[in-house]
Amino acid sequence: ATRYTGLIQHYAGRLPIDDPADAISLGEGRTPCIRTYNLPRRLGFEGEIYLKFEGLNPTGSFKDRGMTVAVTKAFEEGSRAVVCASTGNTSASAAAYAARAGMTAFVIIPEGKIALGKLSQAMMHGAKVIQIRGNFDDAMEIVRELAEDYPITLVNSINPHRLQGQKTAAFEVVEELGRAPDYHALPVGNAGNITAYWMGYSEYAEEDRCGKPVMLGFQASGSAPIIEGHRIGSPDTVATAIRIGNPASWDSALRVQQESGGWFDSVQDAQILEAQKLLASTDGVFCEPASAASVAGVVAEIQEGRIPQGSTVVCTLTGHGLKDPDTAIEQSDQPYTVDATESAVEGVIKAFI
Ligand code: F0G
Repeated sequence: ATRYTGLIQHYAGRLPIDDPADAISLGEGRTPCIRTYNLPRRLGFEGEIYLKFEGLNPTGSFKDRGMTVAVTKAFEEGSRAVVCASTGNTSASAAAYAARAGMTAFVIIPEGKIALGKLSQAMMHGAKVIQIRGNFDDAMEIVRELAEDYPITLVNSINPHRLQGQKTAAFEVVEELGRAPDYHALPVGNAGNITAYWMGYSEYAEEDRCGKPVMLGFQASGSAPIIEGHRIGSPDTVATAIRIGNPASWDSALRVQQESGGWFDSVQDAQILEAQKLLASTDGVFCEPASAASVAGVVAEIQEGRIPQGSTVVCTLTGHGLKDPDTAIEQSDQPYTVDATESAVEGVIKAFI
């Protein structure tokens, strides 16, 4: 048996690392593509819907794919510190990989708009956590300047090594399904990840390993600059991970849309939360709110007939549900609290059997 040691060694030759043996890795990648049964049944959809569950990466989101490459590269180039602006997941991932590399991580986050799990990760991994009285877009502007003025490597997705790492998720989908899906749906914030998937599918398609999917990108309706066609000054959504008004990879998002024959659309917070709850309670997969935007979008497209019957659809679930326990608890039934006796517990159970 060969031990799995992460993306850089597994996809050596497809990633820009000189010596894969020096990879700074936490065993990221190799996440499952889970087939849903209850979701298509409920929609009356005679096709296949898979969930590429990126919440099962080491820090609980897809960011680890990009971070292993970005941090390995930064270390290789002699950098000893990384910086990022983040809505939470990037900061958690940067903090973990920097810790492993013995580097300092500076993470700039919008005060009060980071899900609890993500904040706890950045803190535990020893990042220097700087909360700003502003939003993600403000933080992004600040880190762009900081990275020019100081010897600190920027590890947001405008760092091209991030997208190189993230493209491997598309490779895995093709390897698992034996082909590209007909449709691939993703939540969109900065639009780095949808760009990376398209790079991955295109790379494999050029080698005749697969065809190319139609790419679908979904933004939350309160934070939907790409759909509205202009920057959003005060973006808002329950899906804090994608609370972004000025996407860094806006141009490449439009290129992906055009080249793949795909489209972008927005979904309401209520649709996002409903999709999150539906997946968790009927298909057993718990993702964070932003991730559920891809599923909410696919549900709407199927209901409106834009995704035809018989199609194979993959939704990327970008982050784990445990990232945002507050939102999960708020939308769930509260536990029963009873006396510590069998009869008191029976009193609850009897109502259900
Ligand atoms: N889903 C989750 C869970 C995310 O954390 C993000 C981005 C996205 C989707 C959107 O990906 O930006 O490549 O289009 N999170 C960044 C962060 C902004 O700071 O963690 P994108």
